[in-house]
Amino acid sequence: LTLETPGGRRNLRIGEFLLVVLKITDSKLALAARKVMGNAYSPYSHLKVGAAILTSGGEGFSGCNVETAVFPVTMCAERSAISAAVSNGAKSIEKVVVVSSADEPLLPCGICLQTISEFARDENVRIVSIGANGQTVKHTLKKLFPSGSGVNRTIRSVTA
Ligand code: THU
Repeated sequence: LTLETPGGRRNLRIGEFLLVVLKITDSKLALAARKVMGNAYSPYSHLKVGAAILTSGGEGFSGCNVETAVFPVTMCAERSAISAAVSNGAKSIEKVVVVSSADEPLLPCGICLQTISEFARDENVRIVSIGANGQTVKHTLKKLFPSGSGVNRTIRSVTA
């Protein structure tokens, strides 16, 4: 596995990598998000977005936005990252970091907030957004999506 550090690229064994990800910080998540942001497929909006999530198990997963010519059929970076986590067996989100090519920090859309809420460890999960010039805003999930856990609880109870 390759890890990008301020000192350059390092190739790490899985065990070493896991030790490193245990110590993941916001800046490491931002670095991971920025790396996949370069792979964004956004020929329609021209907005590049990368997201990285830290799971409760201390693993990091990242994803970029993927658009199609049918505009509503678009995958946001946040949901790409969550899909990567769930596909690899991780279902508890601790933190989300979003970076983009826009000057202003971007906040997750409503669909992504619902998806984050589904897997959030609790409503105090931190959502960190970083703009192209480094401007950073930090929110909690409950601030951005106050009705989230209530909505999920209600729907789970009526569909049980
Ligand atoms: N987008 C994201 O990937 N995440 C956000 O938080 C906001 C918006 C993407 C979706 C679409 O590809 C483009 O940005 C413009 O909406």
